[in-house]
Amino acid sequence: MKGYVDKDTCIGCGLCPSICPEVFDMDDDGKAVATEDDVPDDAEDSAKDAEEQCPVDAIKVE
Ligand code: F3S
Repeated sequence: MKGYVDKDTCIGCGLCPSICPEVFDMDDDGKAVATEDDVPDDAEDSAKDAEEQCPVDAIKVE
């Protein structure tokens, strides 16, 4: 399972790193970034939660 952030779509709300800090972090430009291409097994549920809760659907976890 891998996580991706579409930086052009991200509005920098900061929700995803608060839901799943194992995979998402905020970059210097104020946009989210996926820090782990391969989502750790124990972070899959929270990564999926972040995908579902991103207000602008900028996250893909697949
Ligand atoms: Fe951006 Fe969505 Fe995360 S807006 S900061 S990718 S929850």
